[in-house]
Amino acid sequence: MNDESFICFSILMVVFQILQWITFQAIMYLQVIAALAEKMKKGTSFGAPCLLENTLGIEMVRFVNSGTECMGVLRLARAFTDKERIIKFEGCYHGHADPFLVKVGSGVATLGLPDSPRVPKGATCETLTAPFNDISAVEYLFETNKGEIAAMILEPVVGNSGFIAPKPDITTDLTTPGKIIGGGLPVGAYGGRREIMEMVAPAGPMYQTGTLSGNPLAMTAGILTLKRLQEPGSYIYLNKITGELVQGIIDAGEKGRACDVQWVYTWHVFNFGDAKKSGTGRYV
Ligand SMILES: Cc1ncc(COP(=O)(O)O)c(C=O)c1O
Repeated sequence: MNDESFICFSILMVVFQILQWITFQAIMYLQVIAALAEKMKKGTSFGAPCLLENTLGIEMVRFVNSGTECMGVLRLARAFTDKERIIKFEGCYHGHADPFLVKVGSGVATLGLPDSPRVPKGATCETLTAPFNDISAVEYLFETNKGEIAAMILEPVVGNSGFIAPKPDITTDLTTPGKIIGGGLPVGAYGGRREIMEMVAPAGPMYQTGTLSGNPLAMTAGILTLKRLQEPGSYIYLNKITGELVQGIIDAGEKGRACDVQWVYTWHVFNFGDAKKSGTGRYV
């Protein structure tokens, strides 16, 4: 890794964060703020389900308060399948729950080790890893862990190691949306097939609750924001301002140092290994 590639990769990560931020800010428009002010007069949280909790177009949903909290989905997958091992992909981030704090290395697949001091080995020893976009690595893991894998978890587009596009089509039993579904307020959710979701308490035996989950403020901001996004032209607009930002950064980079900005129209990184070629030592 040389200095230039390190700088390129760092810029790429900064750009991704800026794009995320702009997306949030652009849609936190006045209507959301007005609706929140109105809702707040009636109370912010009741420690109980609220009528505003919608389905997000998913068969059955459980709201939580952050992306990390979505990881109740891991408990659910284990409860439903009666298995313990999971597969996660190199470079993917799924919040800071212990089982996902796995040190990922190159190679076909390895059993994970704790990635943060004093995370017990027991918390991560059932976490297997594979390179993103590598079906043969996944097949190998299923072959060598026959009957033991409860779930595979992945970011459909990897946002946490350089905006990496998926090669194959991905279909899921469970989905864990976050961030935007709360319109900028703390939120997360997991959901999917009713048959699986009915395992979650109080309908079923898998325990998971949250005092602030599905509170009326996050639900209001999320509903309005998603409606706004469904309006004709909103993604065209987001693409336009994102394109302008990307071009501005590239131009600025060319004046100083070379830089590489990957976004939806210029995908050329397909896994964590590719991302590392841009220089990861200091980034990671
Ligand atoms: C794909 C993904 N999953 C989970 C998380 C964790 O979400 P939170 O920071 O809300 O706990 C993040 C955060 O960036 C994320 O990008």
